[in-house]
Amino acid sequence: MINHWSSENQERAKELLEQYPEKRSAVMPLLYVAALEHGYVSEDAMREVAGLTGLTSAQVQSVASFYTMYKREPVGKYLVSVCTSISCYLRGADAVLEAIEDETGILDGETTPDGKISVEHVECSGACGGAPAVSVNWELVEGLAPDKARDLIKWLRDAEPSVIFGDEMQMLFGGQQSFDWGPKEIEGAIAALPAFDPYGTAGGEK
Ligand code: FES
Repeated sequence: MINHWSSENQERAKELLEQYPEKRSAVMPLLYVAALEHGYVSEDAMREVAGLTGLTSAQVQSVASFYTMYKREPVGKYLVSVCTSISCYLRGADAVLEAIEDETGILDGETTPDGKISVEHVECSGACGGAPAVSVNWELVEGLAPDKARDLIKWLRDAEPSVIFGDEMQMLFGGQQSFDWGPKEIEGAIAALPAFDPYGTAGGEK
C-alpha cells in the first residue's frame, strides 16, 4: 500500500511499527511520516496509515483531525503560526499578525500563490512569558515586534532556509524570551511539521 513512498519513509514506517507491541499505537508517528511523504495528511495518507496500523480510515481521520499539527490541506514550505491567545494578545499579537499579513500579501488561513508561506493564528504556543510568540514550522521565536515580523517574512522569502532553527530566528528577530531553553539546538525543522528525528522531519546542525 505504501510502495510508492520513498525508500527512506518506508524504512521509517517499518522501524516505527516495530517499536510498538500494538501496531495501532504507531498511528501518530506514522501520520508524520505520511505527511512528510505527501506534503500534508491527505485522504490517501490516512488510508495508507490505516492499512499499516489495522485501524479504519475513519479512526485515523479522527486522530488526524483532532491535532492541529496534522494539516489536512496543503500548506506552504513555511508555516507561520501566530499565537493570538491571551498573553500574546495583550502583548500585541494582533499587530504582529497584521504585519505578517501585510508583508506576505495574504490573510490568516491562506498560502502565498508561490506556495512558500502559509499564515495561521493558533492558540497558546506555550511561550507566554515571551509573548508575542510566533512559530515557523513549529520552531519558536519569542518577543517578536511587528517590524521584526516583517523582517522574518523577508528572510524566509529571500534566504529560503532549508532548515528552520528556533535559536537562529530568536537571535535574528526575537525579543524577550520566556526563559533560557537550555542546550543549544542541534536540529531544526525541514518541513511544515514538528522536528522529530525518528520521523524524518528534523535535520541540520547549526
Ligand atoms: S498565549 Fe501566546 S504563547 Fe501562550
